[in-house]
Parts: sequence; C-alpha cells; structure tokens
Amino acid sequence: MGIGDTDVSNATDRRSYAVCWSGGSGSRYGRRLVEVLLTSGHTVHLCATGAALRVLKHEEGEAMDFDSPDLASLFDANLRSNLHVHDLQAVEATPASGSAGLAATIVVPCSMGTLARVAHGFSSNLVERAADVALKEGRPLVVVPRETPLSELHLENMLKLARMGVIVLPAMPGFYQRPQTIADLVDFVVGKILDRLGIEHQLVQRWQTPPADSPWDEGEVV
Ligand SMILES: Cc1cc2nc3c(=O)[nH]c(=O)nc-3n(C[C@H](O)[C@H](O)[C@H](O)COP(=O)(O)O)c2cc1C
Repeated sequence: MGIGDTDVSNATDRRSYAVCWSGGSGSRYGRRLVEVLLTSGHTVHLCATGAALRVLKHEEGEAMDFDSPDLASLFDANLRSNLHVHDLQAVEATPASGSAGLAATIVVPCSMGTLARVAHGFSSNLVERAADVALKEGRPLVVVPRETPLSELHLENMLKLARMGVIVLPAMPGFYQRPQTIADLVDFVVGKILDRLGIEHQLVQRWQTPPADSPWDEGEVV
C-alpha cells in the first residue's frame, strides 16, 4: 500500500462522523475527508452550507442544485451506502441530536462566518447545530478554518473555541514531505484531522529522523 492509499482492510473500529462543509476555500479538504472516512468503512453524516456549494462550484466546477444538492453524486457509487446527506435546514437530522452519539464533528473547511457563529452558540442551521451538539456533549469538534490574513476577531473566535476544547486545525499544509501534487497537500491536512481523531490512515509518510548521510544535511535539493 502506498502513500495516498487508504487502508480498508484494517478498519476495525467503524464509527459515525458528522462532516460539515462551510464556505471557506478548500472544498477539496472536505471532499477528501468524506472519501477517506467512507473508504475506511465509517459512516458519514454530511451537510453543506449554501456558501459551501458556491465555493464547490467555483473551485471544483461541481454545480449543485442549491435547493436540493446531490452531494452523494460526488462520491463513488460503492461508497454511498454509509453516506447520509442532510439538508441544511433539517434540524431533525441525526447530527442535530446529542443522543445520536456521533464520534466527532468536523467542520471542513470552516469559514470565518461559521466559526464565529459556532463560537457564539448560534444554531441557525444544521452545520452550526451539529457543532453546538458536539460542544454540549463534550465530543470532539474539529474546525478547519481557512482565511488569510486573520483579523483580531477571527483570532479571538478561534481562541474562544480552543479554550472550549475544540480542535482548531487550520488548513495549513506543510511542505517538509515534499508534496508533488495538490492531492498531497490536501492529504497532509486531512491526515492531520484523522490523527487528532485517532483514526488510522496512511495518507502521508510519517516523519522520521533523516539519516546522517541525508543530502538534506548538505542543503542539497533532490
Ligand atoms: C470562492 C470563494 C472563496 C471563499 N473563501 C473563503 C475563505 O477562505 N474563508 C472564509 O472565511 N470565507 C471565504 N469565502 C466567503 C464565505 O463563503 C462567506 O463569508 C459565506 O457567507 C460563509 O457562509 P457559511 O459560513 O454559511 O458557509 C469565500 C467565498 C467564495 C465564493
């Protein structure tokens, strides 16, 4: 199995996750996370804001019906059986209740707007409600903000969430793995999300001390 593959055979611990897409740049992160979770045998409850659908169209060329987006069509047919797509206004959907017992909620990408509303307890749609539920239940909530530069307000909202135990995991791919493709950069961030949730994956090669005779020591670019 090579880098970038996901390990289906070893997926012994199958759980249910809420994955929420909001209108930050980086639709690919959210899409890839869902794909990896489904491929690994997990169940995904997916919900997207209207802005997320617009960004998806701009970034990926995937035009969805805004009233009834067919998000399942973004994934291979053989992955869809464990995928539940929910309407943004469906406050009766599984992620809206603490009793659903979801393992974690991930907002990826997380716009500054959604971040602010989550930080202040708004529950005006299913994405915000799912995050609010994770907070009140003390279950893992990961937000993947993407904005630059960051205003004082953005930073304050992130700090507020971090102090509540939220995993604030900005979409900041590293380059020390020598990424060759955009997919490598995406997998770096998705791998970090999975790491924080304790979900096994092989999306990236683990860092190890470079050998003493590594050309890196000589500053050589290979
Ligand atoms: C192509 C595109 C890229 C965007 N990128 C970002 C971004 O990186 N971060 C952000 O906070 N907002 C971004 N926005 C703006 C949000 O989509 C906008 O503030 C929206 O109201 C957020 O709504 P939501 O939080 O309900 O998803 C972007 C919008 C578009 C159309």
